[in-house]
Amino acid sequence: MLYTGLQRLEYRGYDSVGIAVISSGRLVVAKGKGMLRDLEERLGFTKYIGSMGIGHTRWATHGAPSDINAHPHVDCKGLFAVVHNGIIENYDELKKKLVSKGHIFKSETDTEVIVHLIEEYYSELGDVYEAFKRAVKELRGAYAILVITPLEDNKIFFAKKDSPLIIGVGDNYNILASDIPAVLDHTRYIIVLRDHWVGYVTPTRIFIEDLLAEKPVDYTTYIRIVEWSVEEASKGGYPHFMIKEIYEQSLALKNTIAGLKSSQELPHAVKVIAEAKRVFVTGAGTSYHAAEFYALASNTLTKLLTVPFIASEYEVYGTAVNESDVLVAISQSGETMDVLKAVRSFKKQGARVIAVSNVVDSAIPRESHIALYTRAGPEIGVAATKTFLTQTLLLAWLLVETAKYTGIFSTSEYKEVVGALENSPKVAEISIEKSDKLVHDLSTVYASKTSMYYLSRHIGVPVAREGALKIKEIAYIHAEAYPAGESKHGPIALVERGFPVVFIVPGISGVERAIKGNIEEMKARSAETVGVVCEESPLKDIVDYVFEVPCPHWLLTPISHTPPLQLLAYYTATKKGLDPDRPRNLAKTVTVE
Ligand code: AGP
Repeated sequence: MLYTGLQRLEYRGYDSVGIAVISSGRLVVAKGKGMLRDLEERLGFTKYIGSMGIGHTRWATHGAPSDINAHPHVDCKGLFAVVHNGIIENYDELKKKLVSKGHIFKSETDTEVIVHLIEEYYSELGDVYEAFKRAVKELRGAYAILVITPLEDNKIFFAKKDSPLIIGVGDNYNILASDIPAVLDHTRYIIVLRDHWVGYVTPTRIFIEDLLAEKPVDYTTYIRIVEWSVEEASKGGYPHFMIKEIYEQSLALKNTIAGLKSSQELPHAVKVIAEAKRVFVTGAGTSYHAAEFYALASNTLTKLLTVPFIASEYEVYGTAVNESDVLVAISQSGETMDVLKAVRSFKKQGARVIAVSNVVDSAIPRESHIALYTRAGPEIGVAATKTFLTQTLLLAWLLVETAKYTGIFSTSEYKEVVGALENSPKVAEISIEKSDKLVHDLSTVYASKTSMYYLSRHIGVPVAREGALKIKEIAYIHAEAYPAGESKHGPIALVERGFPVVFIVPGISGVERAIKGNIEEMKARSAETVGVVCEESPLKDIVDYVFEVPCPHWLLTPISHTPPLQLLAYYTATKKGLDPDRPRNLAKTVTVE
């Protein structure tokens, strides 16, 4: 159970792996640097037998990836083992205190302080759970913690703040995990734990208490049934999650549309935005590109000033807002710390916050005033694909509803655009099918490139940025994206024979005309040009390689124009022998600042 659970969670971090089990009354730990499958060969995880255990895949924050720094960590006497996701901010001060009391630390991690603290308090209090709680109360920062000990050999102790943690509720077993796919092989009954909850599970019992409220939690009211099947959370016959998820985009859009049509939150969000003085919109990475798309579309359609910003820069904006402002916070995982911090800082100033997420009940929606959900299903590949398309659809929908509410759209205009949005699953499907036929040759050419540009204008700019991010993170090719008009202000100096420039050409006639000029200026420097253009666009004849995609409405540009760029990144990576699901140095969910 531990091994398959860790396999399902490997996407969250994977520089080292470890497990601890209670076997014949003894604590046994196996851990090391590397990926799960390599360590299985080296350490033979599956030979560790016990009825209870904990496991961890790590993405280094404090201390480099190494055998010693891998979790679980144990105390001096080898009585307690801990795994932890998050960052203990006050670990330095706690470590000094513990070292002065004689504790010997083996790793450079922040996590190890937790287990020595428990050891310390256990020797004082003689009760494991009380010692655990006392230790947790001393921690500052973010944590999802699990602890086992042969002293209480049928309990797993847990604590949660800021980092995600769930319980999979089973029949004669219970499972704790950072994310839902880890438990789907066994159960679909889930409790999403809240901040400051601590407790323990046995095979037949769950005990939770709220450390702040200092009272037990009736967990039965928090049990949810998850609709995702195990198949949905696994590769379903594709070689990688990324390509599976690219092909799932049409379905993900269909499900998201169904969700929007029945959403009770959407009308509230529309009203809040319509009444705002200014709208800020934020996210990180791909979700920031969705934010930029929303701002460009909103500034084009409505008279409401809409400002996009990268979530980690929240302090610049968070202090300049007030009650009449709104923040739209976008995060597929709902756990990205930079976005969470932005939400908190805007809320502190009195702004209303609308979350857009793919994970129900995750931290960002929970802390926002209104939560809107995409229904992309679990996204396992580190590269965001289907969540980007569904985010942009949801945001376009939100905007169109707002335009209707404020009278910018007449009923017939509204119906026309909603009709186009409803057709988005078909648009994605055609775009993927047509591109997959053409992308193979091009990816062979691009596998040997070291640098490239992705250019566009207007609503195509966030799509260009998304294309550049995809090829960077998956195929390790340096790529820069910027509005095409900027070339002559500097970047064109790099262009020489064969330099690849990908143009994203939205179906807006003025924009198309302007981009034509930009293509010509690159061709004049012997650049190798690729165009993602609307079917039958005259620009198809002037680029070296062309992807023609359907363009029913400019609001659908991310949905029509992004798939060829995702496929280009995917196939270029696989041609280079890289694993697109596990790009180096990256984790799927970034729960640290
Ligand atoms: C996208 O391909 C990335 N892996 C990354 O930029 C991601 O979009 C970013 O970390 C934000 O994640 P979130 O949507 O879960 O907040």
